[in-house]
Amino acid sequence: MSLPPDFLDQLRSRVSLAGVIGRRVKLTRKGKEHMGLCPFHNEKSPSFSVVEDKGFYHCFGCGAHGDVISFVMQSEGLTFPEAVEKLAGEAGMEVPKPSPRARAEEEQRKGLTDAVELACRFFQGELAAPGGAAGRRYLEGRGLKPETIAAFRLGYAPGRRGALATALKGEGIDERLLVEAGLAKRGEGEGEEARRLREYFFDRVIFPIKDRRGRVVAFGGRTLGDGQPKYLNSPDSTLFHKGRLLYNLPRARQAVRDGQPLLVVEGYMDVIALAEAGVGGAVAPLGTAVTEDQIAELWRLSDAPVLCLDGDNAGRRAALRAADRALPLLQPGKTLRFAFLPAGEDPDSLVRQAGRAAFDRVIGAARPLAEIVWQKELDEAPPDGPEAWAALKLRLLGAAGRIADAEVQRLYRDELLDRFYGARRAARGLPGQGQKGGRFGPARTPAPERMSKPRPEALLRRRDTLLLALAINHPTLLAEWLEELAALPLALAEHQRLREALIDSLAEAPDLDSGRLARHLSSLGLGDALARVLSPAVYALCAAARPEASLDLARQTLEGLLADVAAGEAARAVEEAERLLAADPSEENLARVAAAVRLRREAEARRGGADSA
Ligand code: UTP
Ligand code: MN
Repeated sequence: MSLPPDFLDQLRSRVSLAGVIGRRVKLTRKGKEHMGLCPFHNEKSPSFSVVEDKGFYHCFGCGAHGDVISFVMQSEGLTFPEAVEKLAGEAGMEVPKPSPRARAEEEQRKGLTDAVELACRFFQGELAAPGGAAGRRYLEGRGLKPETIAAFRLGYAPGRRGALATALKGEGIDERLLVEAGLAKRGEGEGEEARRLREYFFDRVIFPIKDRRGRVVAFGGRTLGDGQPKYLNSPDSTLFHKGRLLYNLPRARQAVRDGQPLLVVEGYMDVIALAEAGVGGAVAPLGTAVTEDQIAELWRLSDAPVLCLDGDNAGRRAALRAADRALPLLQPGKTLRFAFLPAGEDPDSLVRQAGRAAFDRVIGAARPLAEIVWQKELDEAPPDGPEAWAALKLRLLGAAGRIADAEVQRLYRDELLDRFYGARRAARGLPGQGQKGGRFGPARTPAPERMSKPRPEALLRRRDTLLLALAINHPTLLAEWLEELAALPLALAEHQRLREALIDSLAEAPDLDSGRLARHLSSLGLGDALARVLSPAVYALCAAARPEASLDLARQTLEGLLADVAAGEAARAVEEAERLLAADPSEENLARVAAAVRLRREAEARRGGADSA
């Protein structure tokens, strides 16, 4: 629906923003603004502001932002035209009828949609027909159940010339529509044979691609054998823009609403195999890297979609490309996470061979975007002298500088610099000011493992919990180990928030005692997270974390845990460097391995030192 802009302006000026919002949110006037509790996230003190004369609302807590139309869309789950219709009705305005041109375009789209839907049914029928035996065998061979084949509307494009054109002609779909819908093309050249109408999909298994609303708009087709190309996708058309759609979006949306995580995988078969294993929230781009439009689409469904990548070099490169693309677009609360599969596996093969739990572990170990950015700049040129460290710092600041949102940019700069100083310290062999001391047994990171193998998540959370408990109960340690704690890769968002608040409060009031610190954290709305950290269960696990434990014991324990973290990270860095070297045995990669091995030795020595006391 395209509406004249002046109509929309008129509509916005006729309805009262505060009036419309006031029906859902209790607003209090404050000067030119109205304030209230944000309806888009859970909060106890008001950070939702309505600015009537500018016509927008903004939440300082979650970043929700928009005008009266988007408020009605979001709060009532309506589409744009529905929200406009509703507001116009209330304002006594008539929504203008679409222009003749808009109506003609609508008609044309409709014709195309019908053609594609009929083609989809044709392909489904062909798969079920005797001629579809090869297609059925192929899909069965890949382990798909009949229900799955039906749910995803999989089909088969026969190898018979003209079969689709003939079938669709019988349904009143002419050749022109077939070509426009990207289902066939007329050959160029001399003679009848050369100019024959050729079907686009020929002897392939067919994966229908749906738009946001669940209408089939295009297809992907896979060869049954080893032919090239392996997958063929419909060309872009009026209906289908491959850079804007994601495979399986409508079904994934439902799964995400039901509480599943939103995952981005590489291919059709990954999406389908995951769905069969009960993982419903997976989507896939259509043969390209994830685009900006697709990132925006993902963020409409989830704050932190997880990109699932192959643990090999190609997967790493894909992660870097996606990170690069997402960086300028980051908004408060919106991010990407990156899960790396074991090298050579895709979600389809992993979930079939190792099972759902193994896949869930990979997702649970997903890395935050900031870590990918840090790793990228570090790998660009591993620093080996002050000049190189200075260059790394500039690259990090440059990366943060690409973030458009000022607040996110500031926090990214902090985060990247924390990692920078942590690494710099480690490289210079400065373990921190604490004394070498004993270690804490049970939380010890298991022997160095391959990065591609997920680390036991629960163990990590326990380790993170202990570290936080130690720092909160002994704020002196927080000050002593600030850089290390700031650089720690924390898995849980609530742990990250706690750490951020801890570091902030240390900067503001360096001599806070633990009681006041705890009250301060509670006042920031972190009371529940705090209670989970300072809990009897945690104290039972580790006496050193108790508030009454001696500072020395607490310090030794903290140091041991941090040494474990550093050793684990270093071991992973070595694995990573070795993988790079295996893929590309260049001198540069050899140097990278040598540097990583040196860092690992240092980290292990630190751990040994902490160990032996
Ligand atoms: P993969 O080749 O990794 O897919 O391509 P896959 O799902 O593991 O394939 P199977 O398991 O051998 O069937 C991932 C995605 O890249 C696009 C497709 O969208 C595919 O799903 N692709 C791949 C193409 O568009 N063309 C190709 O030739 C290959
Ligand atoms: Mn595969």
